[in-house]
Amino acid sequence: MASISASVYTSHVPAIGVAMDLGKTAEPYWQPLFAGYEYSKQWLRDNEPDVVFLVYNDHATAFSLDLIPTFAIGCAEKYLVADEGWGPRPVPDVVGHPELASHIAQSVIQDDFDLTIVNNMPVDHGLTVPLSLMCGQPQVWPCPVIPFAVNVVQYPAPSGRRCFELGKAICRAVEKFDEPLRVQIWGTGGMSHQLQGARAGLINREWDNRFIDRLIAEPAELARLPHIDYVREAGSEGIELVMWLIARGAMADVAGGAAPKVAHRFYHVPASNTAVGHLILENS
Ligand code: DHB
Ligand code: FE
Repeated sequence: MASISASVYTSHVPAIGVAMDLGKTAEPYWQPLFAGYEYSKQWLRDNEPDVVFLVYNDHATAFSLDLIPTFAIGCAEKYLVADEGWGPRPVPDVVGHPELASHIAQSVIQDDFDLTIVNNMPVDHGLTVPLSLMCGQPQVWPCPVIPFAVNVVQYPAPSGRRCFELGKAICRAVEKFDEPLRVQIWGTGGMSHQLQGARAGLINREWDNRFIDRLIAEPAELARLPHIDYVREAGSEGIELVMWLIARGAMADVAGGAAPKVAHRFYHVPASNTAVGHLILENS
């Protein structure tokens, strides 16, 4: 049977992708940020998954305001890299895993989560920047990816509690898939940032680090945090952090297994307008 081997959490700042694509990672502004992912790239090579289930948000790229699914699962063979206004990033297209994705859709929908099934979806920086941070600049991505898009752009976003419960359902689904696949689940977006309005530029280091502490040690309690706390403490775009709870909800301890091992933890300010947080948790 398939199983979830680890979860990875990371911010997805678009300027990070641009810095990589333009060869600027060694510049003084960017070097400390990329240094924090050196361990992660080696860790991924040492712990290569068969599939990554990548929870991210689309930024009005694949879905306009005409159609806003709360949760959308990619069941396609392949995903093109989106043109976000400056041409598509020069990174490989993303190969999907239709069999596992369809299985998860079937299981999770029967488990009472109403997913939108997507068979054609360009993927934006929300998905490609985490891949770049974890994989570097390969000719092809190291494994298939199942994109899972969450609406955190247009009110109302799903609650943290629902995201955490959904993670549990995804874990149950993966464990029923009849092939011995090692699946990683990645939760992306965050940390504190606000891109518009009077509080644009807001960063809250203390709150961010406490969020990571609680994500590790007391995720079920953290999942009860109301939206207003994210927005007040971490800015309007800090709400992206509810996506980390989907990945955390899929870890073994939540279903009564052993506590995860913290393989890596990193926090850095600034990256563009955003605080960057990163965590790797391994199931034993
Ligand atoms: C920035 C951060 C984001 O999460 C995003 O989606 C777009 C821009 C920024 O820091 O500029
Ligand atoms: Fe974003």
